[in-house]
Amino acid sequence: MQKQQIMCKEIESFDFQSGGEASSNLKNILRKLGVNSDLVRKTSIVTYELEMNVVIHSLGGEITALISEEELEIRVDDVGPGIEDLDKAFTPGYSTASNEIREMGFGAGMGLVNVKRYADKLTIESSKENGTHVKVLIKLF
Ligand SMILES: Nc1ncnc2c1ncn2[C@@H]1O[C@H](COP(=O)(O)OP(=O)(O)OP(=O)(O)O)[C@@H](O)[C@H]1O
Ligand SMILES: [Mg+2]
Repeated sequence: MQKQQIMCKEIESFDFQSGGEASSNLKNILRKLGVNSDLVRKTSIVTYELEMNVVIHSLGGEITALISEEELEIRVDDVGPGIEDLDKAFTPGYSTASNEIREMGFGAGMGLVNVKRYADKLTIESSKENGTHVKVLIKLF
């Protein structure tokens, strides 16, 4: 089934002003498309966490959303520095966030845990050389 791109947005490193805009834009787009509110909520959590990870932990990237009749695909690609230890990164409570970031309310180490919880399928590739590339599938029925 052919997927249609419904959003593509650049995410800038440390841009807390616009951080969160992509997930909120996508939420509006999905509501307009008539996607049910539970799925919209799930998708919002996933995209917000991945978007903020790009803001906080990467040098910048891009988020893309595609939809077909069956599923929603979220792609989040950044340019590095990559996740050193993926197993650790998916451990509840593990975070490399600085004190400054923690004071802003981030760094509980729960982002990726929640992404995994709400994704029907999650693929993540990360390296120092190529950055972090996450693909999430959410079934629409
Ligand atoms: N895009 C990324 N680039 C580099 N490192 C990342 C990226 N996303 C996550 N990480 C690493 O994985 C760790 C765990 O990420 P996770 O989102 O679970 O927690 P957090 O961002 O530290 O805190 P929280 O999401 O609860 O605010 C991060 O602390 C960071 O070290
Ligand atoms: Mg996070």
